Amino acid sequence: MKRALIIYWSATGNTERCARSIQAGLTDAGWETELWKMGAEGSQGLEFYDYDLVCVGAPSYNWSAPKPADAYLKAKFQEYKARGEVVPGAPKRPGKNALIFCTYCGTHTGMNEAVPAGKYLGQFFEHFGFTVADEWYILSEYVGNEPNNTLGRMGDVRGLPNEADMVRLRTAAKNLAGRL
Ligand SMILES: Cc1cc2nc3c(=O)[nH]c(=O)nc-3n(C[C@H](O)[C@H](O)[C@H](O)COP(=O)(O)O)c2cc1C
Repeated sequence: MKRALIIYWSATGNTERCARSIQAGLTDAGWETELWKMGAEGSQGLEFYDYDLVCVGAPSYNWSAPKPADAYLKAKFQEYKARGEVVPGAPKRPGKNALIFCTYCGTHTGMNEAVPAGKYLGQFFEHFGFTVADEWYILSEYVGNEPNNTLGRMGDVRGLPNEADMVRLRTAAKNLAGRL
């Protein structure tokens, strides 16, 4: 049975809800799944190479990764580097895939605020030899920041991600599993 790890960081719940929908889709596809929050007790000891797919999720904060997600991944990077897993040329490990998912409100410059964060998260996994199979950017409410939710380039983002987004993510995750 194929195994997936969903590892995410979330402060106001948007990315966590996305993570749970992705987990549901992978489960629908018959995969064994584990869901962890970055920084939770025991999460630093996770072995990414034990999984066929690692789904990595975080919100965009100032068009980059939030500090707790950054710190978590940097510590994994140091661990894998010390173990000799990070080598020049970043050779691909067959069968090791990553999915990046990033929530954002896009008030100022739209998806350009999310893509750098997603690419940054993906770089860790490319350095680990994983193939980034896909990157998903999910338009989401900035909880408690009404101007950012209503006056920006993306229009009114209140209530996002919504149930339709959750269904879409679940289906997309199931389809991704089918392709891997
Ligand atoms: C401190 C902070 C900084 C943020 N910076 C950005 C940003 O630069 N661009 C953007 O599109 N959204 C930004 N957001 C909005 C979040 O990315 C968005 O609300 C996200 O869905 C929050 O995820 P969470 O609910 O999982 O914590 C920011 C939110 C916070 C709290």
